[in-house]
Amino acid sequence: MIVEQAISAHKSRYGALPSATGYAPGRVNLIGDHTDYSGGFVMPAALDIGCATVLGESESGHHQIFAVDLGESVTVKASVITPESVLKQPNWSRYVLGVIAEWAAEHGLPHTPAVNLAVTSRVPLGSGLSSSAALEVSVAAALDALFKLNTTPVARALLCQRAENKYAGVPCGIMDQLISSAGRFGHALLIDCRSLTFEAVALPDESKAVFAMFDSGVSHRNDSGVYADRRAACERAAGTMKIKSLRDATQQTIDESASHLDAGERNAAMHVVSENDRVLRLAQALQSGDLVVAGQCMNESHQSLSKTYQVSCEELDVLQAELCKEPRVYGARMTGGGFGGWVVALIDVSAEDPQKIVESYARGASLRLGVNIDKRVLLPSDGATGAMLQG
Ligand code: GLA
Repeated sequence: MIVEQAISAHKSRYGALPSATGYAPGRVNLIGDHTDYSGGFVMPAALDIGCATVLGESESGHHQIFAVDLGESVTVKASVITPESVLKQPNWSRYVLGVIAEWAAEHGLPHTPAVNLAVTSRVPLGSGLSSSAALEVSVAAALDALFKLNTTPVARALLCQRAENKYAGVPCGIMDQLISSAGRFGHALLIDCRSLTFEAVALPDESKAVFAMFDSGVSHRNDSGVYADRRAACERAAGTMKIKSLRDATQQTIDESASHLDAGERNAAMHVVSENDRVLRLAQALQSGDLVVAGQCMNESHQSLSKTYQVSCEELDVLQAELCKEPRVYGARMTGGGFGGWVVALIDVSAEDPQKIVESYARGASLRLGVNIDKRVLLPSDGATGAMLQG
């Protein structure tokens, strides 16, 4: 559906059908937040909503980029895309132009041949459900299809991450791009962000339990500076402990260096060490069907992100606490970068319609908190795809 909409927008904008399409999903992270940039573990799943990019080659020597949902477009000379030149362009377009530039670098090309591109997304912007990664990865998938160059899911994720770091100025880790690129239907991926290897973890049978997401209504941003501050604290803490990254920290290394770490650095180390452990415990709990333990891991994760690492906000904390009061909720936590965005909960749905339960929990929270809480049941989906259009 969404790809067809992008195709028809391309046709009316440029007067021609595109030659290739790319699609990439948003994501929800089930556990393991603020661990990826320390080489730690994460366990996200790809959503059933995503971003579609369609494009065709252009003779003009310029890239034309059309954001269907915003009704905005930018035109830039194909041979000169640098982080500096992109800074003058609207924020949304930096993600697209960054990928176009890094895609050429990945394939050893001087620059990406000029394209006419149209993009549309169903991942709400600023939701913390990785609208940016879905945008980036869909562009890379479409370029791969158009120029018949294969980028592996991991290489594609890395090039999109570089694009976001260099061109959008967001020092993000690898999680969002990797799950959008490599997600697997019916599964979450347990990702080792140091080796970039991953394992598919089956999610509970949906007649028994589902993961569902609830919107705090507070918009989330990674480029606010706080994200970069937290990341810097992790790097300083690792430096003080003389380890490569906090992935290598243990309670013992933290204790040994305690007098040399400031409170922020100590908290960062405590969060990463404990969160890595929880990711592995949650994966194991899902594999053995122990949903009570799975829920406990999620609750503990939320507390660590909120109280220790301090990347939550009042609205997220209240929503998480409200959901935890519901009889069928095993556990709940904020998901993604934090400071707003969504809460993910694991919910027992045995003998009931999951949609109905999730709707009634969202209604209850909306009434109690006095805001309208949006919700989604997770339908874990496949990662990105790209294709040539026939005809
Ligand atoms: C954002 C970043 C990710 C990750 C999460 C927190 O989504 O893009 O790399 O750091 O925050 O887990």
